[in-house]
Amino acid sequence: MDIIILGIESSCDDTSAAIIRNGYVLSNKVANQEIHKEYGGVVPELASRAHQQNIIPVVESSLKLAGIEKKQIRAVAFTRGPGLMGALLVGTSFAKGFAISQNIPIIDVNHLHAHILSLFLREEKENNPLPPFPFLCLLVSGGHTQIVIIQDYLNSEIIGQTIDDAAGEAFDKCAKVMGLPYPGGPLIDEFARKGNRNKFLFNKPQIPDLNYSFSGLKTSFLYFLRDKVKEDQDFIKKNKTDICASIQYTINSILLNKLIKASLETGINNIAIAGGVSANSGLRQEFIIEGKKRNWNVFLPEFKYSTDNAAMIALTGYHKYLKGQYASHSDVPFARTKSNSLNH
Ligand code: KG4
Ligand code: ZN
Repeated sequence: MDIIILGIESSCDDTSAAIIRNGYVLSNKVANQEIHKEYGGVVPELASRAHQQNIIPVVESSLKLAGIEKKQIRAVAFTRGPGLMGALLVGTSFAKGFAISQNIPIIDVNHLHAHILSLFLREEKENNPLPPFPFLCLLVSGGHTQIVIIQDYLNSEIIGQTIDDAAGEAFDKCAKVMGLPYPGGPLIDEFARKGNRNKFLFNKPQIPDLNYSFSGLKTSFLYFLRDKVKEDQDFIKKNKTDICASIQYTINSILLNKLIKASLETGINNIAIAGGVSANSGLRQEFIIEGKKRNWNVFLPEFKYSTDNAAMIALTGYHKYLKGQYASHSDVPFARTKSNSLNH
């Protein structure tokens, strides 16, 4: 009998529902919340309200697109954390209500774990190569930056992480300083394509081990622009593409340098990048070039699965379902991760 899982994602500002059948994607619907653009960042109260408005239509359209009826679903997987508490509560409560109505189990999913398993998302007829275990994954999102050893679908170990800002946050904050709307990462990417990445040099942080730090870079970028704008009011406007290319290249070099170090230290050369920042075209390109140089087998999620989506939640739920790892209806969301593993 087919194993059909409904996945629900509502950790930040995207409401998403997806259907996975036997580990393959049938549908993945994402409703983005435009409302946050004018505020320069995600406003938690507005995000919760938008999730509440979007969740039923998104689930219905996901079921319709997949051609699946509610009674065929075997379990509901939902993002339990990390994320915004009010936003997570919407998805969690929906999952519980849906599961009770259908008399099926619920499966709690760690959002970061799901970003990593996004590397395994594919449709029934696709046979793109999947990462073999163990592999190293650089997980770069709006809230997290980590290097993780992935032992198998359900076991992993974090071996490095940011001590302050996440890479996505660095992109978004630098964009904000330039006067660009939220989220700034994709806009920096767009402008950077037309710019000279060597035009402006920024200092890279010297952080030990496999850890990252981005807050110093953000501050020096702010001072750099402040000084330049003092000399010429139109500095940002005149140099937008070069500034974007240079800051993007700096962030990406910081990310890749530690990934190279992690590969050398662990001896693992199956290497992947996942999370929202893995959508960055410069990072994708530089990663592939570096991989060729170093004989790595490189893996990236499909572009549409780089940023938040419920297909990755449903797929993680599918693997937990196979092991009978269900959640209890008394389980509550968590805003932050507590452990050094991505499974809790
Ligand atoms: O994984 P994600 O969708 O949500 C979180 O779990 O945080 O990641 C969102 C982050 C944002 O900071 C956004 O600016 C960044 O990913 N991002 C990008 C690009 N697309 C999304 N950063 C740089 N270049 C992009 N093309
Ligand atoms: Zn995410």
